[in-house]
Amino acid sequence: MSKVIFKNVGKIFPLSTSPVPALENVNLAIDDNEFVTLVGASGCVKSTLLRILAGLEYRTSGELTCDGHPINAPGADRAMVFQHYSLYPWLSVIDNIKFSRLLKVNREDLSSSDVEAASGRADALLNLIGLSKVRDAYPNQLSGGMQQRVAIARALMGRPSMLLMDEPFGALDSQTREVMHDLILHIHRIEKTTIVFVTHDVEEAVYLGQRVVLMQPRPGHIHSIFTVPLPERRTQDMKHSEPFRQLRAEILARIRESTGITTDLDMLEQLNLQTSEL
Ligand SMILES: Nc1ncnc2c1ncn2[C@@H]1O[C@H](COP(=O)(O)OP(=O)(O)OP(=O)(O)O)[C@@H](O)[C@H]1O
Ligand SMILES: [Mg+2]
Repeated sequence: MSKVIFKNVGKIFPLSTSPVPALENVNLAIDDNEFVTLVGASGCVKSTLLRILAGLEYRTSGELTCDGHPINAPGADRAMVFQHYSLYPWLSVIDNIKFSRLLKVNREDLSSSDVEAASGRADALLNLIGLSKVRDAYPNQLSGGMQQRVAIARALMGRPSMLLMDEPFGALDSQTREVMHDLILHIHRIEKTTIVFVTHDVEEAVYLGQRVVLMQPRPGHIHSIFTVPLPERRTQDMKHSEPFRQLRAEILARIRESTGITTDLDMLEQLNLQTSEL
């Protein structure tokens, strides 16, 4: 059975003027331990779809289940990582990672052995993300890439079965992004989480995903789903392979169709038009 099933999921934003259909007829089944990337032009409702899966936003139609249970609220089984690292600046790296566990201790009166076991997990995660040396540093002492690694470890702390990522590497430079790509693939293998990863970067979507879901706007819908024809274990040199380049080109062409912009010159012309209308 699939882990996640979207069945005719739709969303209408209840604006006071007129309701805006944002998302229509989303049908998608995601397998356990799959790595799915969602890609599409800005505004095609990728983040909203991910937030519905996280339980942070309500669908207005259709059915959505995770492990057979309807999703109507956030759950510890689905952890989210955002573009902005949102670490707690007053906590050290290790305490940021342990934060959810500390909250749980306050709420549920856990025993000291539970807390110790959690510390072991936090250290293992710190090791996994390669930041043992900065265990006691504070977020403002770390680079953006390091902060995002801590945010990922924090999300993994409660052993979520799903990791939902919304453009998590969007603010990083291209070299750091490559490192993060290989790290997240490594984490996916080791932790065996199911990952749904939103991006507008087609290269990133193809490199990371086992399947790439292409979304289109007005209203947001799934245009097509591509199985990535690359081996399970990805290496950076695969980006130069023919299957990789072909798939990237095909997806880019579809995105350009949906935005009506085919070249950079088109984009400039559109900008000029908009400026002259002001
Ligand atoms: N709560 C809301 N009420 C009304 N409109 C909304 C709401 N949330 C999002 N929207 C609109 O829905 C559209 C798509 O939103 P969303 O952020 O999901 O798209 P996206 O594909 O993630 O875009 P981007 O690539 O820019 O992040 C936007 O035009 C936005 O203005
Ligand atoms: Mg978004």
